[in-house]
Amino acid sequence: MSKKLLGIDVSTTGVKALVIDHEGAIVGSFTSPLQLSNPRPLWSEQQPHDWWAAAVNSIQQVLRETSAGDIAAIGLTGQMHGLVLLDADGEVLRPAILWNDQRCANECDEIRRRVEKERLVRISGNDALTGFTAPKILWVRDHEPDVYGRARHVLLPKDYLRYKLTHEYAMDKADGSGTLLFDLERRDWSNDILDALEIPASWLPPTFEGPAITGRIARETAEATGLREGTPVVAGGGDQSAGAVGVGAIRPGVIAVTMGTSGVVFAATETPLIEAQGRLHAFCHAVPKRWHLMGVMLSAAGSLQWYRDALYPNATFDELVTEAASVPAGSDGLLFLPYLCGERTPHPDPLARGAWVGLTTRHTRAHLTRAVLEGVAFGLKDIFSLIQEVGLKEIDEVRVSGGGAKSNLWRQILADVLESELVTVNTTEGAAYGAALLAGVGAGSWPDVDTACSQTIRVGDRVLPDATNVARYTELYPHYRSLYPALRPVSHALSMIETGL
Ligand code: XUL
Repeated sequence: MSKKLLGIDVSTTGVKALVIDHEGAIVGSFTSPLQLSNPRPLWSEQQPHDWWAAAVNSIQQVLRETSAGDIAAIGLTGQMHGLVLLDADGEVLRPAILWNDQRCANECDEIRRRVEKERLVRISGNDALTGFTAPKILWVRDHEPDVYGRARHVLLPKDYLRYKLTHEYAMDKADGSGTLLFDLERRDWSNDILDALEIPASWLPPTFEGPAITGRIARETAEATGLREGTPVVAGGGDQSAGAVGVGAIRPGVIAVTMGTSGVVFAATETPLIEAQGRLHAFCHAVPKRWHLMGVMLSAAGSLQWYRDALYPNATFDELVTEAASVPAGSDGLLFLPYLCGERTPHPDPLARGAWVGLTTRHTRAHLTRAVLEGVAFGLKDIFSLIQEVGLKEIDEVRVSGGGAKSNLWRQILADVLESELVTVNTTEGAAYGAALLAGVGAGSWPDVDTACSQTIRVGDRVLPDATNVARYTELYPHYRSLYPALRPVSHALSMIETGL
C-alpha cells in the first residue's frame, strides 16, 4: 500500500507536520517554531492564529516531498489542557491560556468546594490543578466577564487546528479527559461537574476515540495548505497519549518516561484506575477503551534549557553534559530542585521554586550541570514511585524518549535513580508519530492501534543501572525528598514577592 499518513503536533514550542509511510518509515518532517507569551507573572499564553499559521507552513513544507493525493488520513495531537474560547461565529475571543499557566489557584479551590474534592476525583479521576482547563474557564468568567459572555465554544489547542482544517467542532476523548469536565469511566462530558460549575454543556464539542474520523479537509483549507479536499482527519489525542502510542506504551506493563520540556511518567491501564487523593492524573488513553495514569513534572529538559540559556548561553548542551560526566554520581553533595515553573506531580504547587542546595566553593560548572540532570531524575522517581504505589507493580519495560533521553549520561542517571533498566525505541518523533499511527488505523492501514504499534515500533538500546551509582542515589534521595517541605514556606514567601500577589 503506497498511502501515507500525516501527523500534526501543535506543541508549546512549534507545530510539527510529519509524514510516514505504511511501514512506519519517516517520509518528511517540518516544524515551524512558536513563541510563548508570559504577559504577567504566572501567565502563559499563545495566539491560536499563530498555531494555524505555523501549521499551514509546516504542512506546505512537508507537501514539497509528498503528493497531497498520497495522504490517506491526518491525525492531530498537541499540548493538552490549553483553553481556546470561540464566539458563535467561531472567532477567537482571547489568547489561549496554556497548560503551564499558573494563574487560577483560587478557581481550583472553588472547584473543590463546588464539586467536593472526593466527588471530583471519583468522577473525573483528578484533583483540580491550575494546569487543567476547567479552572481557566472560571478565571475568564471572573476576570473577563465580557469575553465569557460572548463565549460559545471551548476547544483545546489541536482541536482549534481541527476546526480550521475541517470546520467541525470535535475533540478526542484523551484530551477531553484532561479538561476536568469529563466522566472518566463513561468517557464523555460529566453533566454533574458541568452543572456544579454552571458551564453550559453546549460549549463543548462531541468527543471521539483516537482513531475515529471527525471530519474531512474543507475546500478553503485545501486551497490554503495544499492538502487534498476530503482527506479524513481522525480524532488523535493529547500529546501525552499520542506520544505513548508513538512509543508503544499502550498496554499495562510498558511504562513510558518522556523527558521533554516537561517530564512525564505514563502507564496504560485496562480500566479507569484512580489515585484516591488525585496525586496522579487519570485520563482516557488515545487507544479506544483504555485509560492511563500519569504524573507530570513541569521542568524536565526545560530545566537544562533554562540553565544553559541563563548561565552559559554560549555553551552547547553536548559540552555541558560531557563535562558533567566527569563528576561522580551525587555531584559531591550538591542537590538541585527542578521546580522552575512551580510543580504539578507530586507537589501540586504553583508557588514551588527551584534551588541548588549544598553549594560550596569546591563545586564547578560540571557539578551544577550534573546536579540539574540528577534533580530532574529524582523528580521523575517521585512520579515513578507513586505509580508503583497505586498498584502498577508489574513493570515489563520502561521506554524512555524525548529530547533529554538523547543524552547517554542523562539516560544512565535516570536508570540509576529509578533502579530500572531503560530501553529506547526506534521512533523518535514523539506525539506526531503517534497521531500518524492513529490516522493509519482510522484509514484502515492497520486494524487497530496494537497492530499499528507492533508493526512499526522496535526496541533499541538498553541501559542497565550501575550498582555503585544506585547505592549513592538511594542515599541521596531521602535528602532530595526532604527539600520541598523544608523550602516550601520560603519558596511561597519569595514567589509572593516575585509575582506581587
Ligand atoms: C500534560 C501536560 C503537558 C502538556 C505539554 O498533562 O500538561 O505535558 O501536554 O505539552
